[in-house]
Amino acid sequence: MKIIKVKNPAEGARKAFDIYQSALSSGVKVLGLATGSTPIALYKELTDSVLDFSNVTSINLDEYLGLDGNNEQSYRYFMNQHLFNKKPFKKSYVPDGMSEDHKAAAKQYDKIISEHPIDLQLLGIGLNGHIGFNEPGTAFDSTTHIVDLTQSTIDANARFFDNSADVPTQAISMGIASVMSAKEILLMAYGAGKADAIAAMVNGPVTEKVPASILQNHKNVTIIIDEAAATKL
Ligand code: GLP
Repeated sequence: MKIIKVKNPAEGARKAFDIYQSALSSGVKVLGLATGSTPIALYKELTDSVLDFSNVTSINLDEYLGLDGNNEQSYRYFMNQHLFNKKPFKKSYVPDGMSEDHKAAAKQYDKIISEHPIDLQLLGIGLNGHIGFNEPGTAFDSTTHIVDLTQSTIDANARFFDNSADVPTQAISMGIASVMSAKEILLMAYGAGKADAIAAMVNGPVTEKVPASILQNHKNVTIIIDEAAATKL
């Protein structure tokens, strides 16, 4: 793993921007994208830039079940607001949280991923080491699946909702095997709250108890972290 330490999220976003700029100039075709507060500054760098994504396909990691794309808390809405409305892609896939048949939707998403191999996958990390919505205990060979969110994740994500009772308890998420199939992975994490997860990911055993620890087995991973997130390394 290549670790880049930065002073703050703004510097992290600029470093990440450089990675996207060179990926685009080297002809990247498919970007795996993520939500959460962490990538917002990077998306701002991208939308403020002259970079052109009209020949690039994007595939997002996950979506809440039960929220449609017009719901301000949905990840589709988030992506439209922070990136796609300002920087249209050739095609942007986000898992469907409103499908009548979630298993079929998951299978369909795997087909999309296999038809569009991901060149560069962006990740954040949950406090418990989750990536996407792959919670501790998720099989390393998992593909797209339906997730029962842990209380820790529900509590962590409640900050985005007016009422914590409104936080969905389930999601559809790209699996760990799908994330690992990306040619290159960029993970960003900021703040002291992420320090334990970062230490477990980088130095802990590779275990399904810490989903992000699987990244130790990937050949091309870059991690951008601030000083607070790096304190336990
Ligand atoms: C959610 C998302 C993850 C994200 C995590 C951390 O659980 N499904 O993809 O990495 O939140 O979010 P934040 O960046 O806001 O800390």
